[in-house]
Amino acid sequence: MQLPHNAPAALLATLLAAPQLASAFYLPGVAPTSYKPGDDVPLYVNSIRPVAAPQDARLHSVVSYDYYHPAFQFCKPEGGPKYVSESLGSILFGDRIMTSPFDLKMGQNETCKSLCAVKYQEKSVEFVTTRIEQGYSLNWLVDGLPAGQQIQDQLTGTTFYSPGFLLGQDDEASNIIFNNHYEIWVEYHEVNKNPNQLRVVGVVVQPSSKKYEGDADCGDNHQSLIFAHGGGPQDVKFSYSVYWVKSPTAWATRWDKYLHVFDPKIHWFWLVDTAIIVVILVLTVMSILVRTLKKDIARYNRLDQINLDDLSGTSVLEDGVQEDSGWKLVHGDVFRSPSRPLLLSVLLGNGAQLFVMTGFTILFALLGFLSPSNRGSLGSISIILYTILGIVGGYVSARTYKSMGGEQWKVNIALTPLLVPGIVFTAFFLLNLFLWAKQSSGAVPFTTMLVIVGIWFVISIPLSFTGSWLGFKAVQIEAPVRTNQIPRQIPPVTTYLKPIPSMLIVGLLPFGAIFVELYFIMSSIWFSRIYYMFGFLFLCYGLMIAVCGAVTILMTYFLLCAENYNWQWRSFLAAGMSGGYVFLNCLLYLITKVKLGGFAGVVLYIGYSALISFLFFILAGTIGYFSSWWFVRKIYSSIKID
Ligand SMILES: *[C@@H]1O[C@H](CO)[C@@H](O)[C@H](O)[C@H]1NC(C)=O
Repeated sequence: MQLPHNAPAALLATLLAAPQLASAFYLPGVAPTSYKPGDDVPLYVNSIRPVAAPQDARLHSVVSYDYYHPAFQFCKPEGGPKYVSESLGSILFGDRIMTSPFDLKMGQNETCKSLCAVKYQEKSVEFVTTRIEQGYSLNWLVDGLPAGQQIQDQLTGTTFYSPGFLLGQDDEASNIIFNNHYEIWVEYHEVNKNPNQLRVVGVVVQPSSKKYEGDADCGDNHQSLIFAHGGGPQDVKFSYSVYWVKSPTAWATRWDKYLHVFDPKIHWFWLVDTAIIVVILVLTVMSILVRTLKKDIARYNRLDQINLDDLSGTSVLEDGVQEDSGWKLVHGDVFRSPSRPLLLSVLLGNGAQLFVMTGFTILFALLGFLSPSNRGSLGSISIILYTILGIVGGYVSARTYKSMGGEQWKVNIALTPLLVPGIVFTAFFLLNLFLWAKQSSGAVPFTTMLVIVGIWFVISIPLSFTGSWLGFKAVQIEAPVRTNQIPRQIPPVTTYLKPIPSMLIVGLLPFGAIFVELYFIMSSIWFSRIYYMFGFLFLCYGLMIAVCGAVTILMTYFLLCAENYNWQWRSFLAAGMSGGYVFLNCLLYLITKVKLGGFAGVVLYIGYSALISFLFFILAGTIGYFSSWWFVRKIYSSIKID
């Protein structure tokens, strides 16, 4: 990996992005396996997934398939393929790992082994041809390492392994050719120069296409197998070779080659740029705000003093009141409960739950618990955390609702663990129906769905109830100033403080803080690239929180100065608008990087994007609300009110 030129950034880079950090910690279950020469090394097959199509580098599909989907007709092991056990997280993210017929013996080269012979009927040819055009690739695992293709980065000149290899490709004459021969290159490492302790440290597969007339002899003089739309049936014989190459790479660093940073410099420049801009912005705004507030508070308290003097002297009563202006005027309304306190408190509870979950997940990732060799660990950890943190959601929701003077506490307790998870689950379920219909391996099996519902009802909901109970039992958070009986009239506000413009402005800034990282996350979601730059992500999350808090506070200040006291919903929605920008960004990505053919693909893409954006909306909204809440309490408790 290349580091930027300046030293502090370089230090940061090594601290934050070092993949070594990830390999220093391993959870049980991913301990190294040592083999003796001649030992069987299992090769497992994972789902067949779309990656960027070779012709235009765009994503053409979002549907993945089982390796043994009948239309592909890949050779099966004797006795049929079996599932290899997997974590919940892997299953949710569409990993389906199964046994294969490939026979790999540690350290023993095989120059040519033939597998099965298959006749592809016209329908299968059609299906496979379309998948090749869409850039589907095969995903194999050898000793937990993905079989990759060696790729050279045009920009930096470094080589790296990109997981997966193509099902087929175009030849020079733009014919579509199907790969039926695999050259498997396995790198192994001798532990302590002991020839009986060998470990797999790298796997590369070079697929090729060979139209065998007679036996599968793996020779170089064969023509390619051309698959065409409307072409007749095809006879295909599968074959493979295995080459074992000794490597100096140690087991602990075997993932480094896979964790390639595309444009590390650009990534760093972007991040450092955003960070500097954000920090300067936040600091400037905050210092101006603090100075203004100090002046305001001093003025208000001085006015009070004058009023008192006046009272003791002559009988001028209303003069001082007239001099009051700005945010002090709404002191009798600023802690009035917002409209729909129930909905707001439920959203805030869920937002707090997401906030803590995201923080912990990134932290775990940073400590290396979610290294890519722990397949599906990201999904599993987030689900476990989300379930346990139901208690936080319940507590925050209940406590907020109580402080807003809400009375339907039973409804609040019930809705907190049901509303948002219910929406997410329903959307997830409906999207899954599309995957089922497409016979995709990404479809979550019905039993797993039941497990999720089970976890939700048996663990998460009771924990949320416990949290709610604690929240309602806790002392009520008292407002620092009394609320008047009769609500004040809200004067009309200037354009930029109107709900929609203020949302558009406020939401843009937190989105700006995460924009760069979002790009990388999206390419890892949709292009199956391994995402591991959790250091960057951690930094971005911090920046996002800071920006979100700062701009929402600023908006609240202007709002209160304009004598508008509806800050609760306004701050939630304005900060949450960054979720809207995330969604817009996903749509932009759809237009520029993705070229989905079918209706189902577009629905799936938009559906998942909307789901993620919705969760982000709640998360950002909650950060905005609580920052404003803290700010409002702070300023109104520092002025004297008679
Ligand atoms: C296997 O083949 C590779 C490539 O030809 C060669 O470098 C290696 O030494 C061979 N290994 C053995 C054990 O013969």
